[in-house]
Amino acid sequence: METIWQHVYAARTRSMSSSVIRELLKLTEQPDFISFAGGLPAPEVFPVEQVRAAADKVLTERGAQALQYSTTEGYRPLRELIASWMCTESRHHLPACGIDNILITSGSQQALDLIGRMFIDPGDRILVESPTYLGALQAWSAYGPQYVTVPSDEAGMVVDALEDALRTRPKFIYLVPNFNNPTGRTLSLQRRRQLVELAARHGVPIVEDDPYGQLRFEGEALPSLVSLAAHTSMANTAYHGSVIYLSSFSKILAPGFRLAWVCADPEVIVTLTRGKQGADLHTSTLSQNIAYEVAKDNFLDRHLEVIRQTYRTRRDVMLAAMQQHFPLDARWNRPEGGMFLWCELAPGVDATERLRAAVPKKVAFVPGASFYPCGGGENTMRLNFSNAAPDKIREGIARLGEVLAEQVAATG
Ligand SMILES: Cc1ncc(COP(=O)(O)O)c(C=O)c1O
Repeated sequence: METIWQHVYAARTRSMSSSVIRELLKLTEQPDFISFAGGLPAPEVFPVEQVRAAADKVLTERGAQALQYSTTEGYRPLRELIASWMCTESRHHLPACGIDNILITSGSQQALDLIGRMFIDPGDRILVESPTYLGALQAWSAYGPQYVTVPSDEAGMVVDALEDALRTRPKFIYLVPNFNNPTGRTLSLQRRRQLVELAARHGVPIVEDDPYGQLRFEGEALPSLVSLAAHTSMANTAYHGSVIYLSSFSKILAPGFRLAWVCADPEVIVTLTRGKQGADLHTSTLSQNIAYEVAKDNFLDRHLEVIRQTYRTRRDVMLAAMQQHFPLDARWNRPEGGMFLWCELAPGVDATERLRAAVPKKVAFVPGASFYPCGGGENTMRLNFSNAAPDKIREGIARLGEVLAEQVAATG
């Protein structure tokens, strides 16, 4: 008898349907396509030579060890290096952070999934900003939560709207405070303080997802939530607090490593480690060894300057092209870092329908509605400025301008 797979899949797979947008975006793999849709770093800044030399060194000096199974928590020297960053790096400045605070994960995407696995029961409320990172919603939806949304504006999550949302007793608050994906927005300092204070008052933990904080190319770095919420007891050699902080090597080194970390209370690290054992035993030993060799002597500090310079140029090229080609009634922001900017078209314009019109012209973006867990944002779009080279950005925005002008002409 032939297997009818639909009858075999778990019920939770029904909340994992493929979207129309994903199907449309598959077309962006054609040649000559200019895509502002992905969240990809600039390939030109990948430090291929440094990685080659590091791989060579690792394989020569400790090849067998680097190809062996290893511990679930991660490669100890890498965890020590990250713990030291968490104490010394100016935005974190944790009073204490040791290796018991650090878990290496296979991308932050895995950390999000582990958080879902270990924290979310069906029906639990999770408080998120709206719009928010789609990958977090995808990771968690399988565990059956309900999303409680708080709106955001140019200064990030509207914390004044948080108090009411906290009364729904959510399991945790999730947000991307720096150069948010999708909006490029950054949570202001005042709101950071308010948020940490409110969350502590209501006894609700925060998941701070921060892959973009190091990609600031303008303005002042703001303190992370994990540092604002840290208890300052000098007797401790570990971080204790109610923030689970995530960051990643994807945007500061290369996403192909699939390497990221969680910094959290040791008790949370033990729990997430148990979840990780069942997921993948451990993150690639080879990746961790090579990344450690690349990162250990402050190479990333110098490398980040190259990334920031590249992204600043690309953002400026995109903004100038939008000024020239986009309709007068479109509005967009000017992020001081990260990889995305956010554009609001005139009310009533449907960005998904504009994407359908853009694909034959070989240009794409992500319609913003995808990032709203409870609906809305139909006239918004996310544009990635990090991946395409400047001449492609100019060409792609000119094409998009034509697509948006057609709409303006059609509606008169
Ligand atoms: C906000 C946010 N969190 C997490 C991730 C996942 O990153 P990775 O799994 O590559 O570390 C991304 C990737 O784009 C992201 O934008």
